[in-house]
Amino acid sequence: MVQELVLNNGVTMPALGLGVFQSAPEETAAAVETALKVGYRHIDTAAAYRNERQVGEGLRRSGVPRDDVFIETKVWVSDYGYDETLHAFEKATRKLGVDRLDLLILHQPATDRFDRTIAAYKALEKLLSDGAVRAIGVSNFMRHHLDDLLASTDIVPAVNQIELHPYFSQPDVQKADAEHGILTQAWSPIGGITFYPGWGEERRNVLQDPTIAAIATTHGKTPAQTMLRWQLQHGRSAIPKSTNPTRIAENFDVFDFELTPTQMTQMDALDTGVRNGPDPDVPRPAMFDMVIAED
Ligand code: A2P
Repeated sequence: MVQELVLNNGVTMPALGLGVFQSAPEETAAAVETALKVGYRHIDTAAAYRNERQVGEGLRRSGVPRDDVFIETKVWVSDYGYDETLHAFEKATRKLGVDRLDLLILHQPATDRFDRTIAAYKALEKLLSDGAVRAIGVSNFMRHHLDDLLASTDIVPAVNQIELHPYFSQPDVQKADAEHGILTQAWSPIGGITFYPGWGEERRNVLQDPTIAAIATTHGKTPAQTMLRWQLQHGRSAIPKSTNPTRIAENFDVFDFELTPTQMTQMDALDTGVRNGPDPDVPRPAMFDMVIAED
């Protein structure tokens, strides 16, 4: 049974999806195929991950009908601007091998060129009104980015995908999302991401947190499953990444137990306020200018 969430425009979205950030292209099709066979019906990718083509390949290989799967992807910053973002939609659908997207979001606010971020979002609004995408949204937006976006655009994003795990749960962004009727979607929902070898080695690994391990034991579940359950019980969407078939299945086996209110509170209290990922307020021109291939 796939747990679904209703977005602010009435579209339903499976709460749990497979993430493919850092999934190597040669592993991505197999991961997507495995996930769909296990029961996932939601895949989250991005132009910047350079594996949209393989996501499409995995979808077709699985034999699961296209319309049964919720496909989410992201426009990269170098494609921000009105016409550029309309074209980015063409590139993404061509690579994925689909006509329509279920959710198209802006990968992040480009604080050094916010006018282009706004123009990109207006292109998403156009794609939505044309029926080319079923829902639109943003990623890595903090409260002030949302305020600036909402002041210049018409349609409230359906989703804001942000870094969110027990060590960094961003209560203020979650609150801002809720105030606007935006669904919060967690990237790195089990805190597993490292960005490159050596990244954040000094950080504590939430997968080894003793409080979470103790809670997991009471349910006969793993820490990863316990964190995903925490996400879902909070009403959030989560997109754990794995290319390992056993872990892909493990991460989907989270619908047969329930955390107690005390356990939920204990996990909420683990927030350190320290992010693993990049700060959305700090522009990264070299990354932002990365060119997204045509096909
Ligand atoms: P792998 O692809 O080898 O499974 P997150 O989505 O929170 O950023 O976590 C992704 C990272 O965590 C990846 O390195 C992934 O590696 C690993 N991972 C995914 N699922 C699990 C799991 N159930 N237990 C431990 N590690 C996991």
